[in-house]
Amino acid sequence: VTPDPAAPPTSAAATTAAERVVRLTLPGHAYDIVVRPGLLDDAGPRVRAVTPVAEKAVVVRDLNVPAAALARLTGSLSRAGFAVTVVDYEAGEETKSWEWVGRLFDPILRARIDRRTPILAFGGGVTGDVAGFVAATALRGLPFVQVPTTLLAMVDASVGGKTGVNHAAGKNLIGAFHQPSLVLIDPGVLSTLPPRELRSGLAECVKHDLIRDAAGFARLEQDVGRALAGDVRYLTELVAHNVAIKARVVEADPLEKGERAHLNLGHTFGHAIETVSNYDYSHGEAVALGTAAAAKLSADLGLLDEPSRQRVLAALGKAELPTAGLKLDVDAVVAAMAYDKKVAAGKLRFVLLDGIGKAVVRDDVPAALVRDAVASLRS
Ligand SMILES: NC(=O)c1ccc[n+]([C@@H]2O[C@H](COP(=O)([O-])OP(=O)(O)OC[C@H]3O[C@@H](n4cnc5c(N)ncnc54)[C@H](O)[C@@H]3O)[C@@H](O)[C@H]2O)c1
Ligand SMILES: [Zn+2]
Repeated sequence: VTPDPAAPPTSAAATTAAERVVRLTLPGHAYDIVVRPGLLDDAGPRVRAVTPVAEKAVVVRDLNVPAAALARLTGSLSRAGFAVTVVDYEAGEETKSWEWVGRLFDPILRARIDRRTPILAFGGGVTGDVAGFVAATALRGLPFVQVPTTLLAMVDASVGGKTGVNHAAGKNLIGAFHQPSLVLIDPGVLSTLPPRELRSGLAECVKHDLIRDAAGFARLEQDVGRALAGDVRYLTELVAHNVAIKARVVEADPLEKGERAHLNLGHTFGHAIETVSNYDYSHGEAVALGTAAAAKLSADLGLLDEPSRQRVLAALGKAELPTAGLKLDVDAVVAAMAYDKKVAAGKLRFVLLDGIGKAVVRDDVPAALVRDAVASLRS
């Protein structure tokens, strides 16, 4: 992954953030993740570079992304010679479904696409997962371009090639690995994102530094308020930094057979909290609570010292995410965790912190400590 996105911008442009490019390299496939305010206006040539002979392009568009942003994207694609088909998608966990994949196929296949036609996802993580699954399966696989518009999708969901939809039996149970050919991130689009959604993305940023980068965590705990204030220059740095962490993890383990599981820090608890609360807690809020529980479990197992655990809680608090006050029944949450799909051979596996910046996986955690960790969130 080059260059180091934490390095200061080299461009002389004083007022605009410089462009950051993170390259993700896998066996047989590599792609760029490009981060720059204003990038939407230059999307066309970038997409052209990865699909040189395509005549058409399909944009699957989250209806909550403002039309003005869509027009900038489609305008740039048209100028680069693409005949653009826009497909509207009412993004949501309820419409992240097999049925909606079927509905999206209709206008896409009617547009007489061919094997070279790129599918662009323009929306949050839901849109990326659904459009990615469409791209993975239409004509047995089309070039896919992620243009994420939520912080969570920018720092997490748009990178790494996991696509798919929910099923009544659980979240993300149907899907495919289908890596994008390009990820285009314009942090300027975050200006219309509801604050609660911004905080959701920050939960994943905290997670990334906790599992991989102690120095990044130290910067984040100082500066996270700048993200809440909508500082685009800071958001650009933050996104580039997080994309680089995610890219390194994915490169090491593209199909999640090992260390990619570290990205699930806080998520075993978090998914259970999401489910039991009937999604009253947003994903980011649930992951923040889950991260607090994982920190408690790590401390109880002697992996994380108490000052470090307090730093974890304080950083989440500074990001205006919850770490206490859980209103749910502890046993219901523990029971829901047993159904989490990250179960290996009947044992619950936990991603824990062996200090800030280092994750470990354990599958030998006593049930009583798991319950204590959940119970600690109620205080
Ligand atoms: N594939 C992966 O590796 C991966 C990783 C993490 C999460 N995910 C998935 O991502 C999904 C969550 O993503 P999310 O948090 O982006 O949710 P989301 O896609 O539902 O977006 C959140 C909300 O913001 C709206 N929105 C999006 N962009 C906006 C903008 N610029 N301005 C105003 N509103 C905007 C959306 O319409 C939605 O209402 C989950 O389904 C999760 O499973 C996937
Ligand atoms: Zn998450």
